[in-house]
Amino acid sequence: MKNRKLGNSGLEVSEIGFGCMGISFGYGVIADKELSIKLIRKAVELGITFFDTAEVYGPYINEELVGEALEPFRGKVAIATKFGFNFQDGINTGLNSRPEHIRKVAEESLKRLRVEVIDLFYQHRVDPNVPIEDVAGAVKDLIQEGKVKYFGLSEAGVQVIRRAHVVQPVTALQSEYSLWWREPEDKIIPVLEELGIGFVPFSPLGKGFLTGKMDQNTTFDNNDFRSTVPRLSPENLKANMAFVDLVTSFSQRKNATPAQIALAWVLAQKPWFVPIPGTTKLHRLNENLGAAAVEFTADELQEFNFASSKIEVQGDRYSGGSAKMINR
Ligand SMILES: NC(=O)c1ccc[n+]([C@@H]2O[C@H](COP(=O)([O-])OP(=O)(O)OC[C@H]3O[C@@H](n4cnc5c(N)ncnc54)[C@H](OP(=O)(O)O)[C@@H]3O)[C@@H](O)[C@H]2O)c1
Repeated sequence: MKNRKLGNSGLEVSEIGFGCMGISFGYGVIADKELSIKLIRKAVELGITFFDTAEVYGPYINEELVGEALEPFRGKVAIATKFGFNFQDGINTGLNSRPEHIRKVAEESLKRLRVEVIDLFYQHRVDPNVPIEDVAGAVKDLIQEGKVKYFGLSEAGVQVIRRAHVVQPVTALQSEYSLWWREPEDKIIPVLEELGIGFVPFSPLGKGFLTGKMDQNTTFDNNDFRSTVPRLSPENLKANMAFVDLVTSFSQRKNATPAQIALAWVLAQKPWFVPIPGTTKLHRLNENLGAAAVEFTADELQEFNFASSKIEVQGDRYSGGSAKMINR
């Protein structure tokens, strides 16, 4: 697999990364530990060198799993993790990016990940109670001490990105981006380009929706986060199937699968975008990596973008507490 550079920072990773969240968190089922370790190690064998986790995934068990799986490859792959929440008895009790807390999380993540340095340390959500300069300063200290290599932000807005970057250069912004969530194109991506910051699109498969494996009758268990996502609600799924129809029609023309088209479209946007699709299944990992071989001509991209611009997405991407935590 080819590599991509995340902005000007010097961090170079496989052009497709592996989002590990869904193995332990979010989708209502915790995947089998031994099989998941095998899956992550297989991903390394297949050329993936960029793995995404977070303290909050579990909490803790996803970092522990990733740490165990990648221990044999220490120094050969990059692990990104995230700080920014408080927990009480394993329950997320809200945002916390105070400098002393960031330091504590870093120490704990280092242990769980079984590494001596965290390759990429993201603030998971902007904390309105802590100036971003203080957050960037805390990560800068950790970098100077050799505990962290690179600094990242997740779902931050333009002003926060600019202010943070002055204190400690930001290597990557991780935010949702896919065919059905293109909002970062307006203001955020131009700023990343200007400042030389890489972009890591999360949920590039639309949380599974853009793969064509769901239909208008799909429902989710109560413990599956997607049961709270307005655009995946029974009322909205029917209209949103137009995106699936589009990727499906292109997949037939290009001898690819809908998931590969959705990912190839993200890869085609900029050479400094590194999507991190997630899966718990080896055959899907192989399928998703096949997206790297799918290329759009300029005409195809234009046609695809024109067709998608005619589709109006129905429903928000987050609701309730998840929506409130995004402070732009
Ligand atoms: N920074 C943040 O706030 C944030 C938020 C969300 C996610 N993330 C990161 O981004 C990563 C990916 O995001 P995501 O999990 O939300 O969404 P995603 O990658 O768009 O979709 C994952 C879902 O798609 C399914 N899937 C994957 N490949 C498939 C294929 N080829 N065919 C059919 N279904 C397929 C997976 O199910 P199976 O397991 O059954 O294959 C899973 O349910 C996460 O793991 C996490 O690391 C970050």
